[in-house]
Amino acid sequence: MTASNAVVDVSPDPVVYLNGEMVPLSEARIPVLDRGFIFGDGIYEVVPLYAPADGDAGRAPFRLTQHFARLARSLDKIRIANPFDDAGWRELVERVLAANEAQEGGALAPGQHAIAYIQVTRGVAKRTHTFPAGAVAPTVFVMISPLALPNDTQRANGVRCVTAEDKRWLHCDIKSVSLLGNVLMAQHAAENGALETIQLRDGMLTEGSSSNVWIVKDGVLFAPPRSNRILEGIRYGLIEELTQAIGIRFEAREITEAELRDADEIIISSATKEVLPVTTLDHAPVGSGKPGAVFAALYGAYQQAKAVETCGVA
Ligand code: PDD
Repeated sequence: MTASNAVVDVSPDPVVYLNGEMVPLSEARIPVLDRGFIFGDGIYEVVPLYAPADGDAGRAPFRLTQHFARLARSLDKIRIANPFDDAGWRELVERVLAANEAQEGGALAPGQHAIAYIQVTRGVAKRTHTFPAGAVAPTVFVMISPLALPNDTQRANGVRCVTAEDKRWLHCDIKSVSLLGNVLMAQHAAENGALETIQLRDGMLTEGSSSNVWIVKDGVLFAPPRSNRILEGIRYGLIEELTQAIGIRFEAREITEAELRDADEIIISSATKEVLPVTTLDHAPVGSGKPGAVFAALYGAYQQAKAVETCGVA
């Protein structure tokens, strides 16, 4: 082992933003006393950036305003002053994106969709659990990475999920970098041949290891209500809007384990998965065992919303 992150293959070494500097990822460093490292004391965002289908240059963010609003809410909830306003954040994401798009042989091949990963921590201070006494600048990091959307087979056949007890803390509404609970759930899924773990707390559906979860019964779409027990995905509000546009009844209410297992359809949503049908839950088929009509309608509407907002680039 060396004392650097050179042991991690970061090729083709994207350009990242760290505390005012644009640097290659392989050279980006934070002090070990960063509270993000020591305490997981920070928050993050993941924003999809869609490339044009025809391979033309330029990528467009989807639902950027909503992502920045959630970033502001997360910062507010953990009492870190927002280092930028929306215009400042937008400029920063565009700057990092442009630097990567200009990089010959870089991470972003033509037509490659991307994500902007944004992280803010409480900064560097002597290790004390309480907030640092003086004014400490937050650590700000922005990285652009390729986004591999689910493939056609996953959409056509659906994916497998497993269930587990939700053992996370009760501030799941904060998009915190303290993700150990989610990490263990994601690993549980991977070790059991599943894409996601769907979590249940006290017999009620909460959410996936890194997604929101929806069920369909008799043509009605249900999701657990917004609360401290789930992260309100940017797709949560979007899907709510889409159901109105395409005439699907939607109800936000608590969902029991029995209702989850008896659903006609299960759908998961996230920035990186968009909407995806779950056709196997643990060892049982979901409904007919095939992606359903509500998924198909939502997927179509999602692609349309994307195309409109990103000026047809998707
Ligand atoms: N995660 N719930 C959890 C626990 C999540 O981690 C995510 C997304 C979501 C969906 O949120 P959105 O629709 O805004 O992507 C719900 C991101 C993709 C991640 O951690 O990489």
